[in-house]
Amino acid sequence: TFEPRVFSGIQPTGNLHLGNYLGALSRFVPLQREYNCIYCVVDLHAITVAQDPVELTAAIREVTAAYLAAGIDVKRHIVFNQSQVPAHAELAWVFNCVARMGWLNRMTQFKEKAGKDKENASVGLFAYPTLMAADILVYRATHVPVGEDQKQHLELTRDIAAKFNNDFSARIAALGHGDGFFPMPEPLIQGPATRVMSLRDGTKKMSKSDPSDYSRINLVDDAETIALKIRKAKTDPMDLPSEPKGLEGRPEADNLVGIYAALSGQAKEAVLAEHGGKQFSAFKPLLADLAVEKLSPIADEMRRLKADPGYIDGVLADGAERAAAIAGPVVASVKEILGM
Ligand code: ADP
Ligand code: NA
Repeated sequence: TFEPRVFSGIQPTGNLHLGNYLGALSRFVPLQREYNCIYCVVDLHAITVAQDPVELTAAIREVTAAYLAAGIDVKRHIVFNQSQVPAHAELAWVFNCVARMGWLNRMTQFKEKAGKDKENASVGLFAYPTLMAADILVYRATHVPVGEDQKQHLELTRDIAAKFNNDFSARIAALGHGDGFFPMPEPLIQGPATRVMSLRDGTKKMSKSDPSDYSRINLVDDAETIALKIRKAKTDPMDLPSEPKGLEGRPEADNLVGIYAALSGQAKEAVLAEHGGKQFSAFKPLLADLAVEKLSPIADEMRRLKADPGYIDGVLADGAERAAAIAGPVVASVKEILGM
C-alpha cells in the first residue's frame, strides 16, 4: 500500500486560461485537505516545442504565481519547477526503455500537436507521455487531478508502472519492496468542466496555444475583456430574435452552461433548470459577471506576486529541495532494481 499523494502539473507556456483554472487549478486547492500535494511547473514539457528563453522564464514565474494566487499552501504542500529536480529526466529515460513504440504511437495528443509535419516534430514531443509518467511515479503519487485531455496519458502511466512492476517483480520482492514498486495512479477527473472548449470553435478545447486570443479567457484578462470575449463567443445561427430558443441541446450553449456550472459550483442540470429558457443574449452577461467575480481576485493576486520575482524564485527553490528529497531515493531504488 502506498501513502495517498497527489501530483499534477501545468506547462509554463503563457496564456493561462479558464480551462486551466476549471480543469486544474480550482481542483488542486480542495485536495490539500485530504492529500499531500505536489504541484509542478513542467518546463521540460514546455520545451518539446520551441520556446523563447525570456518568455519561458516569465511563464515559469506566472504559473507559480497562479498556484499561489489560487490558494496552494506552499508551506504544507510542494510547488516547484520540474527542471530543478533532475530525478524527473532520469526516470523518464528508464521509462523510455519500458514503454513500447506502439503504446506511444496511439497517443492522440501527439497527433494533434505534431500536425501534418510529423517528421519535423521533436523526439521530446513524441516521448512527452513517458516524461509525464516519470513526473507522477517519481513521487509514487496515487492520485492525479487533470482535465480529460490528459486521461490517455494517465492510462499510459499506469501501463508503464504495471510493466515495470511485472518485468522486475522478482527483484522488487527480493529488495523488500513487496509486490509492486510503483502504484497505479488514479485520475481525479470529475465535475462539469473537465473539458472547456474554445469560445471560437466548439470542436477544439480551450488552449494556451490557440492563435486566436478570443478563443480563450486568460486568467489575467480584465473585466471588460472577459465580458467582450463572452459576448463574442460563437453561437449557432438559431439565436434569431424571430425564433427565440433556449439553451438546452445546443453545443455552444453546452460549453457556456458547463463553464457557468463549474464557476458557480453547481451541476449543469441545476444551471439549466434556472437559466435554460434564456437566450444567449440574456445568459452571456450573467456568465461574464460570474467569471469576473471568480477570476479577478486571482488576477489581482498574480499581479501582486509577479511584482516580486525574488519571492517566487525562493518558493521554487524551497519546493525543489523538498521535492528532490522524495524523488531522489525513488530513483536510487529504481537503479538498484535495474542492477545499476
Ligand atoms: P494547455 O493544454 O492549455 O497547454 P496544460 O497542458 O499546461 O495546458 O494543462 C494544464 C492542466 O490544465 C492540465 O491538467 C489539463 O488537463 C488542464 N486543461 C488544459 N486545457 C483544458 C481545458 N480546455 N479544459 C479543461 N482542462 C484543461
Ligand atoms: Na494539455
